[in-house]
Amino acid sequence: MNKFTPARAVTTSRSVDEITASRRLRRMRKADWSRRLVQENRLTVDDLIWPIFVIDGENRREEIAAMPGVYRMSVDLAVREAERAAKLGIPSLATFPNVDLALRDQTGSHILDPENVINRATRAIKAAVPEIGIITDAALDPFTSHGHDGILRDGVIVNDETVDQVVAAAVIQAQCGADIIAPSDMMDGRVGAIRDGLDANGFQGVAIMSYATKFASAFYGPYREAVGTAGLLQGDKKTYYLDHANGDEALREAEQDVLEGADMLMVKPGLPYLDIIRQLKDAFSMPTFAYQVSGEYSMIMAASANGWIDGERAMLESLLCFKRAGCDGILTYFAPRVAEMLKG
Ligand code: PBG
Repeated sequence: MNKFTPARAVTTSRSVDEITASRRLRRMRKADWSRRLVQENRLTVDDLIWPIFVIDGENRREEIAAMPGVYRMSVDLAVREAERAAKLGIPSLATFPNVDLALRDQTGSHILDPENVINRATRAIKAAVPEIGIITDAALDPFTSHGHDGILRDGVIVNDETVDQVVAAAVIQAQCGADIIAPSDMMDGRVGAIRDGLDANGFQGVAIMSYATKFASAFYGPYREAVGTAGLLQGDKKTYYLDHANGDEALREAEQDVLEGADMLMVKPGLPYLDIIRQLKDAFSMPTFAYQVSGEYSMIMAASANGWIDGERAMLESLLCFKRAGCDGILTYFAPRVAEMLKG
């Protein structure tokens, strides 16, 4: 066979077995340049949403034992962190409060106070750093004396009354400058009701990020320490969060929120639920997000502190895997650290 034999003649003379035997999937993995060339997904700073914890007072910064490197901050310090985030190119922040126990009650009424720490944080950050997006949670749990996301009556989390409260909170949050309302309470009908409430008050431009599939999960533990609900919570949240055994039900939840007018969908927790992320992305083609929750953060930090894993690589790997699963972005406590790394 001379070297001018047409390629076609060569290949057609080979059997399927021969072709299969010569297939070398490692060819494109052989060097850094070729791996970069064929890399399918990438993590950029534009993928990051940074959840932060805010508290009353001034120049206050408290450690959270189970979340090394994460702090509760007073509003003035949160503004400074928002400035830092904007400089790093982080598109958006999500805020969560730890409010005084004295301000918590059965119905979470303090969520309706325009002067509560969340609403003050939104106004202050928007005034100082208007270019950063602010996401607020309209759930009641940091404001209730029992730590539940809804109003508790005779041992039951009452749905519709809770939705009314959540809608009122969302409208106040929008008045304070929130760009996206993210209701994490999983009450039925909340997305449509919030949409109606926002529209009726002139906030057609405020978006809704639905915690479409929020699972009852052990991975929220450190967050409950951060917002101070750990010691308060009576029972569990299984009557309103999804059973983590259920994938079809997760799809029905997301479909409902899409029909009610959600602009974005979120899956929470993140890593154990990559299958749900992929299904939602394929089914709805919506902007889809994952919340890499506190327990996921703490696991990586703890194993890393023990020298059991390379924390930095585990962080980057976990975040990139969210992209591969179909995420448009990730809520992660690692956001500023990743942004620094990506910049460097
Ligand atoms: C409750 C809420 C939770 C988180 C944010 N808002 C879960 C819970 O306490 O049940 C968890 C976030 C995290 O773990 O990082 N509305």
